[in-house]
Amino acid sequence: MDFKKTIVITGGAGFIGSHVVRRFVLNYPEYRIINLDKLTYAGNLANLKDIDQRANYTFVKGDIVDSGFIDQLFADFRPDAVIHLAAESHVDRSITNPTEFVMTNVVGTVNLLNAARKQWKGAYDTHRFYHVSTDEVYGALGESGMFTEATAYDPHSPYSASKASSDHFVRAYHDTYGLDTVISNCSNNYGSFHFPEKLIPLAINNIKNNKPVPVYGKGENVRDWLWVEDHARAIDVIFHKAAAGTTYNIGGHNEWKNIDLIQLLCRIMDGKLNRAEGESAKLITFVTDRAGHDLRYAIDSAKLQQELGWVPSLQFEEGLEKTVAWYLDNEEWLENVTSGDYQNYYKQQYT
Ligand code: NAD
Ligand code: DAU
Repeated sequence: MDFKKTIVITGGAGFIGSHVVRRFVLNYPEYRIINLDKLTYAGNLANLKDIDQRANYTFVKGDIVDSGFIDQLFADFRPDAVIHLAAESHVDRSITNPTEFVMTNVVGTVNLLNAARKQWKGAYDTHRFYHVSTDEVYGALGESGMFTEATAYDPHSPYSASKASSDHFVRAYHDTYGLDTVISNCSNNYGSFHFPEKLIPLAINNIKNNKPVPVYGKGENVRDWLWVEDHARAIDVIFHKAAAGTTYNIGGHNEWKNIDLIQLLCRIMDGKLNRAEGESAKLITFVTDRAGHDLRYAIDSAKLQQELGWVPSLQFEEGLEKTVAWYLDNEEWLENVTSGDYQNYYKQQYT
């Protein structure tokens, strides 16, 4: 079968990656989508079982830290573009094991850039390297202000330092070698297939099982939350329309203090589980704060909205209801990902 383009999507078995892969496989049958993923604890092929038999979808298991493997993958598939999401993504794990974050997020990204630089030489203008990044590279805000694309980088956690570093390498390969690169920096995502080490799915799972809901510090930290399918749609728009060498911020204009978000989630769970009002909130437990915990993130996505016409589609309360319903309807998925290693991680993190 002849395809118009071959796109390697890295980290396609993870939370956001699986939504991006699904969107591209279904919306662009003329593209061949190669999902390259190492299947770490966070990668799960069950996230893609509804689309994995499609003719334009191929899964390849491999590690972006292995440069020989990456070079071979480029030689075998001759991709026209890379959409790079593979990463170690959890801040708490980066505090325990920073080196793994340097290897995957920095060295892995540079390996992909090197392969692109070699393989696409002489034809950079017809190939694209898209790096999916985070608002955490900008550091932390006080009570006011927002991150724009011009905000100076000021990462505080090993995770955000590794993502900042990888962003710098991507820009350097544009400026030095002329590679067509694009970067987007997005706020906190939520929705289906979110691994329950992150706040929202962890809280849903614990409330469901009548376990304490750990809130770091006083719960006063603020995050901007975006429906994961809106992020996937933004990536689609940016991939197709952005000029080479540009950066776009993506966000929901939807700031929540952690404690207010958890209170709302508890109310939704009371309703769904037929519990008396206030029952789930009794599980809220304030625990030791995260080291170096950034106070507030808020992202200004005006550039993306004005230049490329993207706007978030889903109001947060509705999205959270849908998310809770998804987790309650997908008990088997939740049980599979919370057995085994997850139990060890949970014990180490929360006791
Ligand atoms: P995730 O942890 O759910 O998934 C990461 C995926 O990468 C997994 O499938 C994993 O198996 C794969 N992977 C990890 N190391 C690999 C390696 N060495 N080689 C190949 N594959 C590897 O992460 P996510 O939350 O879906 O985030 C995806 C990307 O989006 C990351 O780059 C992250 O920094 C960025 N991002 C995430 C958020 C968010 O709210 N989750 C927000 C903004 C940006
Ligand atoms: O801002 C984008 C980033 O959002 C992404 O780049 C990261 O990959 C993603 O993990 C996410 O980072 P956060 O650290 O903001 O997400 P997390 O779900 O871990 O935490 C959200 C907030 O909730 C944060 O202020 C810490 C707090 N928290 C988290 C956990 C896991 C708690 O209070 N209790 C918890 O048990």
